[in-house]
Amino acid sequence: MKPYVLLVASVAALGGLLFGYDTGVISGAILFITKDFALDTRLQAFTISVVLVGCVGGAAAAGWTADTIGRRWTLFAAGMIFLLGAVASSLAPNETVLLISRAVVGIGIGYSSVVAPLYISEVAPAAVRGGLVSLYQFAITVGILAAYIIDFKLAAGGDWRWMLGLAVIPSLVLVFGMLAMPESPRYLFKVGKDLLARAGLAHIHGQAAAEAEETSILDALSVKSAGLAAFKAPAMLYALFVGVSLAVLQQVTGINTVIYYGPQIFQLAGIGSAQDSILAQTLVGTVNCVLTLVAIFFVDRIGRKPLLYTGLTGMLLALAALSYAFSQPHLSGILSTIALWSMMVYVGCFAFSLGPIVWILISEIFPLQVRGMGMSISTLANWVGNFLVSQFFLTMLHRLGTPGTFATYAFMCIVTIFFIRATVPETKNELLEKIRVGGPVKSAP
Ligand code: BGC
Repeated sequence: MKPYVLLVASVAALGGLLFGYDTGVISGAILFITKDFALDTRLQAFTISVVLVGCVGGAAAAGWTADTIGRRWTLFAAGMIFLLGAVASSLAPNETVLLISRAVVGIGIGYSSVVAPLYISEVAPAAVRGGLVSLYQFAITVGILAAYIIDFKLAAGGDWRWMLGLAVIPSLVLVFGMLAMPESPRYLFKVGKDLLARAGLAHIHGQAAAEAEETSILDALSVKSAGLAAFKAPAMLYALFVGVSLAVLQQVTGINTVIYYGPQIFQLAGIGSAQDSILAQTLVGTVNCVLTLVAIFFVDRIGRKPLLYTGLTGMLLALAALSYAFSQPHLSGILSTIALWSMMVYVGCFAFSLGPIVWILISEIFPLQVRGMGMSISTLANWVGNFLVSQFFLTMLHRLGTPGTFATYAFMCIVTIFFIRATVPETKNELLEKIRVGGPVKSAP
């Protein structure tokens, strides 16, 4: 792979870093914001979740934007939105400004979560596409870990403005980086800028391979489509069904209960002081980050489906162990240790399977004409799933109990395994245009 391709993917992956940082940072900042602005519980919860509302809006608009102004300018716009949100939230004089600026940050996250993987998958050569999209997931996990560490470091002074404001740095790199990056050649062909597209392909693949790619892209583009109406075609609708389901399954197997509520779960598991449980959470962040490397290195060698099956089986067993540990009358000693290890195994297995591979698959399974739109709708579903799971986690704990809650997520892992078996094709090494779910593509009527 050319270093140039790695550079392009790395700049785009900064969108993932900001996604991770901005979703993770609030968990530490909220304690001090609550004090400064004297928030009641309701406002406190809304200050945490308003970002997800922005994400839903950003993800909904991103596909249309990426198909209209291009992938590159959409990512540039995401960078500007992140920048604006970071500056405004760190200087917020009151709760209203803070809420609005956190919603703006959410729009940036929504935008980048659609367009960063989309752009990377369109620029990447087929043989390394999975690894490069996994780089995006890796950046998310680095962002989350950085947020935990920075929160921890700044907690002594209660510097919530710095916690939120530090996102300015990667935002600036993303903005200036995207100015220097090329547009996706696939998008350029789509809008008829063939000369530029051809030059871009040759730069990425070398002359010979570029010609083969071009033939395949032009072939795919000869099928015309009509925006959202394209999804009336059964094959497109089926692809959308698979994309949306995968995106939702990534959330309803419970990952963000651990990412957002980790310290509370550790406390329930009898892990010492608040300090200890924040430290344990940093360990969770590290495991999440390091195990994503497994996907980067193996997803194009072993394939998407074997990694998914292995990861999901690990998640299932870890959740079963957690459920068992929490069902015992006194959670301490060996049971606490089992619970701690199970959390690590669960997150680690997610990190090399469902985490990156859902993003890879939803950036691969849609035909070029509807790729922006298909990713947008699937990602929107991912954010709605995220919002619902994180909103109802505490209610689930209350209604089903801790063992019942983890058993529910374990059951969803089984559902996910069967869903993948039944619907997902192996896409390793395939040219994007050759990937089909549910039969050949036909024009919309
Ligand atoms: C998911 C996020 C999650 C993150 C954890 C991403 O793939 O979409 O919801 O917080 O992984 O690493």
